[in-house]
Amino acid sequence: MSNSLVSKTVKTFSRLSQSLRVQLLCLVLLTLFGAIGFNLYDSFWTADATARLVTDRTLLASARVIAESVRVDEGGNAQVDLPPAALEMFDTGFGDRVFYQVITAWGSLVSGFPDLPLPAIQQAGEDRAFHGVEVRVMMLDHPVVGLPNDAAISVTVAVTHKSQYAMRRQLWLADVSKQVVLVLAASLVTILGLQWGLAPALRLRDAVRERGRNRLDPLPEDMVQTELRPLVHALNDHMERVQNQMAAQRRFVSNAAHQLRTPLALISTQASVAARETDDSRRDEALSALRTSTRQISRLASQLLTLSRAEPGSRRPRKDATDMSNAAREILEAHAEEALRRRIDVGLEEAGPVIVEGDGTMLREMLVNLIDNAIRYTRESGRITVSVRQVDGNAIIEVEDNGPGIPEAEREQVFERFYRIIGTEEEGSGLGLSIVREVVDGAGGSVLLGEAEGGGLIVTVRLPIR
Ligand SMILES: Nc1ncnc2c1ncn2[C@@H]1O[C@H](COP(=O)(O)OP(=O)(O)OP(=O)(O)O)[C@@H](O)[C@H]1O
Ligand SMILES: [Mg+2]
Repeated sequence: MSNSLVSKTVKTFSRLSQSLRVQLLCLVLLTLFGAIGFNLYDSFWTADATARLVTDRTLLASARVIAESVRVDEGGNAQVDLPPAALEMFDTGFGDRVFYQVITAWGSLVSGFPDLPLPAIQQAGEDRAFHGVEVRVMMLDHPVVGLPNDAAISVTVAVTHKSQYAMRRQLWLADVSKQVVLVLAASLVTILGLQWGLAPALRLRDAVRERGRNRLDPLPEDMVQTELRPLVHALNDHMERVQNQMAAQRRFVSNAAHQLRTPLALISTQASVAARETDDSRRDEALSALRTSTRQISRLASQLLTLSRAEPGSRRPRKDATDMSNAAREILEAHAEEALRRRIDVGLEEAGPVIVEGDGTMLREMLVNLIDNAIRYTRESGRITVSVRQVDGNAIIEVEDNGPGIPEAEREQVFERFYRIIGTEEEGSGLGLSIVREVVDGAGGSVLLGEAEGGGLIVTVRLPIR
């Protein structure tokens, strides 16, 4: 056999062994064959016992007829006048041979074979060998009137096994044929039952397979049996989640496009104005506005990119050991110039390294957005304090400012994408806190907005230290 044929056969077998239909059928047939095997074994021995019982009854009847025919002659000797019926009752057409023996209580042979083997107990059949053939032997003691003291004579009759074995075979075969019919009927019922029982599951498979890419409406749960309904339920739940996710994605793309369109239209107008302007100072004004719009749009693009990276599943999970104290110091240093320009007093409270395992780049992005917000939304000559510490296996990072804060009613909404508080004058795309939430969720932590002393905002981030 070629290698490909072998591997094909192995594949077919492994596929078949995984089929529910084949598994159930094998289980039912194995159980059935086991039961039938035991039944056939049992019925063989029942047939054997029945055939032996019938033979023994015939032997006893024959011995009785012979015993009844024993007479005592004038000389006081027992004589047998053998009636033909005594031996004819064994003539069942199987060619059995019959032997008999009649002896007196004192051991003298009256008639028959002198060396016929005698069974140990009378009136009980026994299997013995006689002249090289297997025989069934039965002995009966019978008192004879006329013999001294009405002594008994012993009549022994033996017959070969042919008829007994034929009867046993017939009885057993009748049972075997019944069992075969039973197996065939049970297999047929099982196959039909499986076909019928699995039909709803196959219909479900086809219904799922035939659906278009965008069809996500729920499948009817009653199309399958009760046991399979949780599966349909789970499938429907999953489709609903996918549907929600797709809707969110669509909303996000349309929001992003909208957010990009406004500054782009502005850039186009500002560019035309600058091109047309002949007055130098007015042109500088238009160019400066153009720069601002360009910066805005490039900020939006980079925030969009960071958000897409922060989304679950978009980056390979990482386990960088990031010292949050050090990261906070570096980010504050990077923002020092802007803080200085706005005369904002920046402070860092830390007491040594606080190591968090996770995606180092994204953890930094989170800190950048929190510190950027604090600097941007705090009035000139304000104060910002960043603190990093470790409490009960968690890294606690707090960014506190004395700016305007966020009203309690909006503390949940600001985490939504593109959400900005009405009246916020500073530039921004409304994605910073969404990024913070995605990063914190991805790291298995939590983020809380609260009111700092003096009305500013205090953001508390808790990250588990793994
Ligand atoms: N420290 C803060 N003090 C007061 N208001 C804040 C502070 N941080 C955020 N906000 C408010 O929450 C809104 C959402 O902040 P978020 O960082 O998500 O977006 P953004 O700063 O507007 O834009 P960007 O994507 O550029 O960060 C801001 O528009 C601002 O109104
Ligand atoms: Mg921000």
